[in-house]
Amino acid sequence: MSRLSNVSEMLLRNLELFAGKRLLVCGLLEDSLPQLLLAHVEQLTVFTTDYAYYRQYSATLGGRLQFGHCLESDVQHDALLLLLPKAKQEAQYLLAMCAPKLLPNADLLLAGDNRGGINGADKLLAPYGNKPLKRDSARRASLYHGVLERDVPPFTLQQWVGHYQYELGGEVLHVHALPGVFSAAELDQGSRLLIDHLPSLTGRTLDFGCGAGVLSAAIAKRYPNVNMELVDINALALESSRLTLAANGVKGEVYPSDVYSDISGPFAHIISNPPFHAGLNTFYAATEQFLDAAPAHLVKGGDLTIVANAFLRYQPILERGFGRVETVADDRKFRVYRCRRQ
Ligand SMILES: C[S@@+](CC[C@H](N)C(=O)[O-])C[C@H]1O[C@@H](n2cnc3c(N)ncnc32)[C@H](O)[C@@H]1O
Repeated sequence: MSRLSNVSEMLLRNLELFAGKRLLVCGLLEDSLPQLLLAHVEQLTVFTTDYAYYRQYSATLGGRLQFGHCLESDVQHDALLLLLPKAKQEAQYLLAMCAPKLLPNADLLLAGDNRGGINGADKLLAPYGNKPLKRDSARRASLYHGVLERDVPPFTLQQWVGHYQYELGGEVLHVHALPGVFSAAELDQGSRLLIDHLPSLTGRTLDFGCGAGVLSAAIAKRYPNVNMELVDINALALESSRLTLAANGVKGEVYPSDVYSDISGPFAHIISNPPFHAGLNTFYAATEQFLDAAPAHLVKGGDLTIVANAFLRYQPILERGFGRVETVADDRKFRVYRCRRQ
């Protein structure tokens, strides 16, 4: 069994809160906590926007686990456990989406790491009821307990979709993004540099880690002969990409994948602004895996074009797989690299 997070350890000291409940769990799921709660609840629904979590736990949780951008459930739950996600707006989105699936006076349990904003639980729960109680605090994690005391409106996705525009060769492109999705408020500087230095594209093209679909929208507009495939691990990103493609009148196949888990090659081109963590120890296993296996997912002569922060050491990984790496743009902060499969 995977190690439990501090938040899960704290929740396991509070099992009486879950006893006999029809419980809905969502948010930052990281471990086997839902399985451990299963023995204590009457019914369990687990909702995740993270495809890696879904893949890891779908065998053990079966039909109780749902992956997507919007919960589909006819069950009226009498308790919600929200594991606080990193982005505050995503927490607000999840609460608004789950609240209509709850009975009046349902328990609203919010848990999270103290460094991740859990002590703002009062504000998050304000639209739903009176001030929540702080139930527990341990191992740098806290648990708040509120009650659903107010009427809640039905959930409408449209209310949560942000919108901005960017310019491409005199044309205006529209970006639609759900909360917490990368580049939800404005085009990333690295993505812009990549868009401005794309190779000529035709045929089957993979947009890896598509986010809100900004790269694919630009590519499909500029190169009508491409067949875009957009993948991401995050369901909110995937839905944002679908909305962005539709808003620009272009097409692409949008589906979940954890790195290459659901992808069958080969592609003529792979394009990406790959994920990275800008922590103290900047290392991201998924991106290393993505870059390492890229040649195996390209046709002979096919190319990979990525943008990365100049400080990230992707060049040696690319050289290992492709032999030669070309730096096609460098604005000091970001670099665009291109490699061709021999
Ligand atoms: C830096 S963002 C780029 C988004 C978009 N392409 C852009 O340029 O705005 C990286 C994206 O990779 C996704 N991602 C992270 N880990 C992933 C994985 N293991 N498999 C697939 N996508 C992943 C993230 O959800 C995020 O949307």
